[in-house]
Amino acid sequence: MSGLFVAFEGGEGAGKSTQIRLLAASLRAAGQEVVETREPGGTPLGTELRRLVLDPDGHVTPRAEALLYAADRAHHVDTVVTPGLARGAVVITDRYVDSTLAYQGAGRGLGAGAHAVTVWATGGLTPALTVLLDVDPVAGLARAGARARPDRLESASLEFHRAVRAAFLALAAAEPARYLVLDATRAADALAGDVLAAVRARLRG
Ligand SMILES: Nc1ncnc2c1ncn2[C@@H]1O[C@H](COP(=O)(O)OP(=O)(O)OP(=O)(O)O)[C@@H](O)[C@H]1O
Ligand SMILES: [Mg+2]
Repeated sequence: MSGLFVAFEGGEGAGKSTQIRLLAASLRAAGQEVVETREPGGTPLGTELRRLVLDPDGHVTPRAEALLYAADRAHHVDTVVTPGLARGAVVITDRYVDSTLAYQGAGRGLGAGAHAVTVWATGGLTPALTVLLDVDPVAGLARAGARARPDRLESASLEFHRAVRAAFLALAAAEPARYLVLDATRAADALAGDVLAAVRARLRG
């Protein structure tokens, strides 16, 4: 049996956690095994790396940042994603490769370097479906802004977040069959319906 690998991408406050929760609940109600996970931080090692890389008081250079994410991702793919898929689960990850390409590649200006590191870290494992929740960063950050203290990436400039959004959209435009791009300002329930339909279509296919 082979499962289905689904990634959720998008800026801060786009609604990734919300949509993952709704999708996982719908699939489980239908008897489907679901693994909900995230990057960085889906493993015990990842939790430590996440703390280091997002520490608002920390200093991490752009290449070191990309490598820390890559270390988290390699471990996450090997210990969570690949075993889950082998069991036939739907593995849903909150952020994956595209976040590195957008945040480190475009936002931090690492370009192709971020891509090379990512390919090596994942062994080329690519989601069957990537859901991009697209939102203007001003709106997204305002939604996320309910949080007490912004992390290191949330507190980057608006220009940085605009570059990230544009990079996500460019990735989706380059591979339309693999992406579901949604206007994240729509109602959460309506978005969840579109996501579930796309996942079901791929489970059938
Ligand atoms: N479609 C929606 N319309 C309006 N508000 C929403 C919608 N989806 C989520 N929200 C709200 O926006 C906030 C951010 O949502 P959520 O935590 O799901 O986003 P996220 O993409 O996971 O954010 P982060 O990148 O910070 O983890 C929450 O308060 C959530 O209730
Ligand atoms: Mg979230």
